[in-house]
Amino acid sequence: MAYTTPHNSAPKGAFANTVLMPGDPLRSKFIAENFFDSPELVNNVRGVQGYTGWYHGKRVSVMASGMGMPAIGIYSQELFQFYDVTSVIRIGSCGSLDKDLHIRDLIIAQGACTDSRYAEQYALPGTFCPIGSYRLLRAAADEAASRNVHYKVGNVLSSDHFYNEANTLDWAKMGVLGVEMEAAALYCNAARLGKDALCILTVSDSLVNKEPETSPEERERTFTDMVEIALAIAD
Ligand code: HPA
Repeated sequence: MAYTTPHNSAPKGAFANTVLMPGDPLRSKFIAENFFDSPELVNNVRGVQGYTGWYHGKRVSVMASGMGMPAIGIYSQELFQFYDVTSVIRIGSCGSLDKDLHIRDLIIAQGACTDSRYAEQYALPGTFCPIGSYRLLRAAADEAASRNVHYKVGNVLSSDHFYNEANTLDWAKMGVLGVEMEAAALYCNAARLGKDALCILTVSDSLVNKEPETSPEERERTFTDMVEIALAIAD
């Protein structure tokens, strides 16, 4: 059967209105199997696993974004454009640039600064400022506040570089809270297509405090709060 998009074999209608996007396909599977009722695998092209199921009676989906802005750029664009998805909530990890944000704390990305040229495709006569959906942001902050989690709302840096020779800490001078690799492209796509997007991040390491890095297994476990917040605000 022909694919619906070059990268997604799910039939039209296979995704819910809201899709959660972790970077890692195995995390997509973990979320579907541990948080959804009746999860169904709807896409597995390149192992980018996508599932649709139910959460407290609400139809929801999860699909991996892959790492970096080219990857989330492709997958989120296709969900918005070809599957009529209305909201994408990225749930990922980041490095902290803020002394008060420690491993396992949450960042809700109000805005996404970037060193990427992703927005140059729009040929705007200035600098576009990628921001998260205010509706989702407000709901996520309310949800986080009602739980016993430490979180901050603010700017993040979406970088094209995990191994970076530039001084990432310069962004901290501008109050940027953390560094990750996908939010700016997601926010650009949502803006261009009139959709809602939000990025919620768990701090997995700190660039400003001496803290032991979390293992992949540990990160998977500490995902729970972030996943439950994202599922709670999904519509
Ligand atoms: N840089 C970019 N992305 C990340 C980091 C980082 O330090 N930590 C987790 N995701």
